[in-house]
Amino acid sequence: MRIKDFKLEEYFAKYEFKVKYSLCSSDCESFSVEELLFLEKNSLEDLKNVTLGYTESLGNPILREEISKLYRNIDSEEVIVFSGAEEAIFIFMNVLLKKDDHLIVQYPAYQSLYEIANAIGCKVTKWVMDDENLWNLDLQFLETNITQSTKCIVVNFPHNPTGYLPKKDIYEKIINLAKTNNIYLLSDEVYKFLEYNEAERLPSACDLYEKGVSIGVMSKSFGLAGLRIGWIATKDNTLFGEVASFKNYTTICNSALSEFFAILALRNRSKIINRNLEIIDSNLNLLDDFFNKYNNFFKWIKPKAGSIAFPRLLIDEGVGTFCLKLLKEKSVLLMPSSNYDYGDRHFRIGFGRKNMPEALQKLEEFLKDNY
Ligand SMILES: Cc1ncc(COP(=O)(O)O)c(C=O)c1O
Repeated sequence: MRIKDFKLEEYFAKYEFKVKYSLCSSDCESFSVEELLFLEKNSLEDLKNVTLGYTESLGNPILREEISKLYRNIDSEEVIVFSGAEEAIFIFMNVLLKKDDHLIVQYPAYQSLYEIANAIGCKVTKWVMDDENLWNLDLQFLETNITQSTKCIVVNFPHNPTGYLPKKDIYEKIINLAKTNNIYLLSDEVYKFLEYNEAERLPSACDLYEKGVSIGVMSKSFGLAGLRIGWIATKDNTLFGEVASFKNYTTICNSALSEFFAILALRNRSKIINRNLEIIDSNLNLLDDFFNKYNNFFKWIKPKAGSIAFPRLLIDEGVGTFCLKLLKEKSVLLMPSSNYDYGDRHFRIGFGRKNMPEALQKLEEFLKDNY
């Protein structure tokens, strides 16, 4: 397989660990091993007893059970664990798709959600979101672009990079369109549980539709990206079996230590999510004030969920140049929209980290120094 470079990941690889402030990370503030062990009595003793052999290929049964509790109608046998959401997406695409299949992908998007399909030789229709329309999705576009060869619709709610979350009736219409046309719905739900208003949280696709495939991960809402634990939940037995077989050619099984910590974190998930939502809430208030103050520089659409947003730069300068100048002068990393193949006007900003206020201050200094 020949596949294009993953622009966003390459940009991170180049700068993320060299800069002082990453102001575009999508994951929430992480936890130390000590903090995780503090969540439960006896956890240190349990950790000492973990053996480091191969683990069960589908995932530790206790972990699969904990993951299944995140859903309404999913059993642990309907969950398979991977090395991050990335492996889940890669395998799903490889198992489901063949050359000339058609996909409709919500766009802008995390690159693997369409690039793997491109590499397989599929025809990808981008279902483009626009800030002029407050990022709202055009259902009419979806309906008119479904054809006989459409194999899958790909959505990501809460959305990377805009923080968009559709209303429930819109989401139901998407599901119904997939159902009526007997099309798979790949639902990347890695930012689920970070809805600012819990009442707006969407049900998972795998709970609503036999061909709904939900992807989750410990990286984003739980702030545990270093565990590299993600999963697929689906009621589609045939797809499940094929995905499980393919895993024997990628990672075979997961890290025993990562599974141990993922179980611990999921058993204490409300504490973890609440801490992350508190950080987001306080950072988002600062961002709101900042973008109101500098509304001649930026167009700001406040997100509804998640730890990232996608403001537009209004001044007469390309975003790529703006971001590189900021990086050089203040050691602050923003993610230009060119890394999403989405023009040169937007940038991704992240607000799940504790040091965001400091990074924002640096951005403000940069504006005052230069414009
Ligand atoms: C929408 C989306 N899906 C999948 C992933 C991959 O997640 P992971 O790095 O945990 O495998 C990311 C990471 O940024 C993402 O934003």
